[in-house]
Amino acid sequence: MPATPFLKWAGGKGQLLDRLLPLLPPQYERYIEPFLGGGALFFALAPARALLADLNHELIVTYQMVRDQPAALADCLNAHRACHSKEYYYRIRAERPDDALEVAARLIYLNKTCFNGLYRVNRSGQFNVPMGSYVNPRIYDRANLFAAAQVLAAANLCAADYRATLDQASAGDFVYLDPPYVPLSASASFTSYTATDFGERDQHELAAVYRELDRRGCYVMLNNSATLLTRELYRGFEQRVIPAVRAINSKGDRRGPVEELVVVNYVVGDVAEAGHQSGDNNLCTLSMLMTRATIRYASFRR
Ligand SMILES: C[S@@+](CC[C@H](N)C(=O)[O-])C[C@H]1O[C@@H](n2cnc3c(N)ncnc32)[C@H](O)[C@@H]1O
Repeated sequence: MPATPFLKWAGGKGQLLDRLLPLLPPQYERYIEPFLGGGALFFALAPARALLADLNHELIVTYQMVRDQPAALADCLNAHRACHSKEYYYRIRAERPDDALEVAARLIYLNKTCFNGLYRVNRSGQFNVPMGSYVNPRIYDRANLFAAAQVLAAANLCAADYRATLDQASAGDFVYLDPPYVPLSASASFTSYTATDFGERDQHELAAVYRELDRRGCYVMLNNSATLLTRELYRGFEQRVIPAVRAINSKGDRRGPVEELVVVNYVVGDVAEAGHQSGDNNLCTLSMLMTRATIRYASFRR
């Protein structure tokens, strides 16, 4: 059974997979995702080797527990499910457990029972989302949890800033960047996955890191909102605009179609039929060499 994300995450890419999969490089050494969130693309690809990271420490602890102790985690989740009520939700929300299994079970429980299924913290790092109005929240799917553990078995997991993660990227790695987005309007900002905001200066720094990865010979794909700023920051690279639906917004009237930008530093489409295998060096070697040559040529032009 292929695994799917076990969390609902703001900015999750589940709805965009059909658009993103045809834009992947045909072959790569290692999959690197430094803004992991719910990991929709990671689960869709199930790569043979992966480095996954996020600044959200509790999120990474949760992935580690799913990978290393799925049975014990399922027991904890069953206990949460049995006790679920309004009073219980707010009691668990107020707790700050130290034990890794409890951290993971609490995060999954709150994620699946809170309003809109979003993970948001205030400036002191406290999860502050009110309870949602689900009648019988599912909380987790046991088979999917075990399938996720299997896919994660091949992954290194780090709680880190994206810059530290990307220091480890080398030629031939595929880096997928799905950062907090540039807001479409001043009031539309959603950058509170962690206690620190991701502002315009961070977007400039990220674009500089993108160029550095390109110089290093990595295959890089980035998602962001399609704004004048993002188009300018990634000028010189291939940019595709794809339609999306803004999924997380407390105001129903602000949910609706938006445009997203996908930026890649390699040529897509010409060798896509070769498949999206990772770790098998016998496959698509010619395609890989061609794509690498294309990256070098594109970098040279810039
Ligand atoms: C748009 S979400 C990623 C969504 C994910 N691709 C998915 O499918 O669910 C952005 C993620 O970046 C993380 N983040 C924010 N600032 C970061 C930083 N400086 N370094 C690493 N991760 C960061 C947030 O915790 C959040 O999980």
